[in-house]
Amino acid sequence: MPEMRFSESVSARLDDGVLVVAIDNPPVNALSAHVRSGLIAALDHATVAAEIAGLVISGAGRTFIGGADIKEFGQPMVEPTLPQVIDRIESFEKPIICAVNGAALGGGCEVALACHGRIAGETASFGLPEVKLGIVPGAGGTQRLPRLIGPIAAIDLIGTGRAVKAGEAVALGLVDVAAADPLAAAIAAVRENARRPLRRTGSIEMPAADAAAVSAAEAKVLARSRGQLAPAEAVRLVKSANQLDLEQGLAEERATFLRLRDSEESAALRHVFLAERAAGKVEKLAGVSPRRIESVGIVGTGLMGSGIAVSALTSGYRVIALEQTQEAATAGRGRIAGILDKAVQSRRLTTEAREACLARLDTTAEAKNLAAADLVVEAVFDDISVKTELFRRLDGIVAPGAILATNTSYLDPDAIAAATADPSRVVGLHFFSPANVMRLVEVVDCAKTAPDVLASALAFVKRLGKLPIVCGVTEGFVGNRIFSAYRREAEFMLQDGALPHEIDAALEAYGFPMGIFAVNDMAGLEIAWARRKRLAATRDPAERYVEIADRLCEAGRLGRKTGHGWYAYPDGERTIDPAVTAAIEAARAAKNIEPRTFTAEEIIDRLLKAMVDEGAALLAEGIAARPGDIDLVMINGYGFPAHKGGPMFAAEHNR
Ligand code: 3HC
Repeated sequence: MPEMRFSESVSARLDDGVLVVAIDNPPVNALSAHVRSGLIAALDHATVAAEIAGLVISGAGRTFIGGADIKEFGQPMVEPTLPQVIDRIESFEKPIICAVNGAALGGGCEVALACHGRIAGETASFGLPEVKLGIVPGAGGTQRLPRLIGPIAAIDLIGTGRAVKAGEAVALGLVDVAAADPLAAAIAAVRENARRPLRRTGSIEMPAADAAAVSAAEAKVLARSRGQLAPAEAVRLVKSANQLDLEQGLAEERATFLRLRDSEESAALRHVFLAERAAGKVEKLAGVSPRRIESVGIVGTGLMGSGIAVSALTSGYRVIALEQTQEAATAGRGRIAGILDKAVQSRRLTTEAREACLARLDTTAEAKNLAAADLVVEAVFDDISVKTELFRRLDGIVAPGAILATNTSYLDPDAIAAATADPSRVVGLHFFSPANVMRLVEVVDCAKTAPDVLASALAFVKRLGKLPIVCGVTEGFVGNRIFSAYRREAEFMLQDGALPHEIDAALEAYGFPMGIFAVNDMAGLEIAWARRKRLAATRDPAERYVEIADRLCEAGRLGRKTGHGWYAYPDGERTIDPAVTAAIEAARAAKNIEPRTFTAEEIIDRLLKAMVDEGAALLAEGIAARPGDIDLVMINGYGFPAHKGGPMFAAEHNR
């Protein structure tokens, strides 16, 4: 039977009375206008063709359907709309079964929910990630999913945007069955369903649920949403499925979707989504092949080194972790095993996977063992002589094609590279702590880094499941340079009249999980203090400089670990400390500054401006490639709220 074509992206073949429809709209089979019109044309055809008993819907390639076409957002709506297509699928007179061959996300999941049966392939996944784009499902997700899996699980999935794999989807009741050959299973299911009444998801009665458990699920979602609108709206819609009939519920859902789609929050989160896709794409690397990396050497197994080791092990790499003594190596192995144990306890890792990780780990005090590594990442004390000495030594040990990466956060990686005979194989990999948790990695393209070394570093970071942001060499790279500028501005405001808790409260109300002074206390004040002392000799005497932090450090107030810093921590609780207020007042008096009051809006405006000015300087100097890269660094490394889009986006959109 020849292929039938219903639109540029929708075709079908007839398999003994079953119309097997394939959506082929690369890269992710998004539901663009021609996919929607193609699906309607296929249904029209199946209606009139008496020989067709029913339909299978499947996706070409690795994805089932990646969702509505995000690139159509902001453009005039073209009919048929997705709700029209989905309504037609659900009410169709012949059985429609989906063979889910890959990700069924957003509108893709909603298509699956409206089918009369769902078969999941081994690589299938299901999710309604709309809240991550600042919207809610707009084609039935909030009304149909709870009918299938109950409101508690639906609140969890829709409120967080979490996707589930085939096994969990079956356990939840989201799909009927998982099958090795989902297409064959779906074709068989159409034939079976042709002989019995169709199961239409929208007609299923809402499963009963314990009110307290629903409230608990709701509270969990809201606690994570930090001022973001969409999760609360998603929960409201799921709960409404209990009170409204399907038609009313769908109308309310659609109205909410359309309102949020045009919101600033959604524009910001779509910017973040697209910026993430652009990150790590470097024009000069087109056509450059990365080197093969299977074994990773890690020098130093402290907090940072063991975090990097865990990340590499759980991503399938062999790891050779080097310490100075056998005792330290044994302790390092214990630390790494401890992190893996915690992952097992929290069910993020199976016991078998933990064993496999430890089997791939060699902890040693023998530097020569690093000869087997394709990439060596150093995570030793951030001191230039320690690092240059190490790189000089490594140069004589590792294989000629092996890559050397430094995890320095403030030192000059070009100076570290210069200590080696071949600086072209040196690159910066600035991980954030704890490295097994934090997604962000600044990939530093040093003066002499070879293109294939940079490409390899990017491929490595991507395989770790992390977000690589490429930057050039500068003190503090992108993140710490902006962080320093923004901390400086916060300290100016202290001197001008604000107090730490007022600045922190403004930041938290804006959406940061924690204000800057609380963050500094948590990280410890001594690193920035040492840096200020290092830079003191070259500081322009005319430059504004606020000594308050120095006074605190001199008094032994180094943050939480010393029991006090910008705040006091009696019993571990953060509290305002009159001694800090007195130190601030003394600093104002010493400079004859008449304190003034600040509104939360002024505080945010000044801090945002400090970030954006530094970001603009980084772009002008060619250290950062795109404003979106700067936004991603601040969101993923420094707690900037994603739903504001990052500092560069927020400033451009006056937020
Ligand atoms: N619409 C348009 N383009 C999309 C898209 C979408 N829904 N999803 C991904 N793309 C594009 C990306 O921008 C990227 O483009 P580029 O090559 O130009 O950079 C390309 O597809 C490949 O994307 P990834 O690099 O992310 O590919 P992966 O293979 O790593 O991941 C994916 C595939 C899991 C489908 C991932 O792209 C993803 O999570 N997509 C977003 C899913 C989503 O949020 N869907 C909901 C949309 S909103 C909706 O459906 C509303 C409805 O309820 C009415």
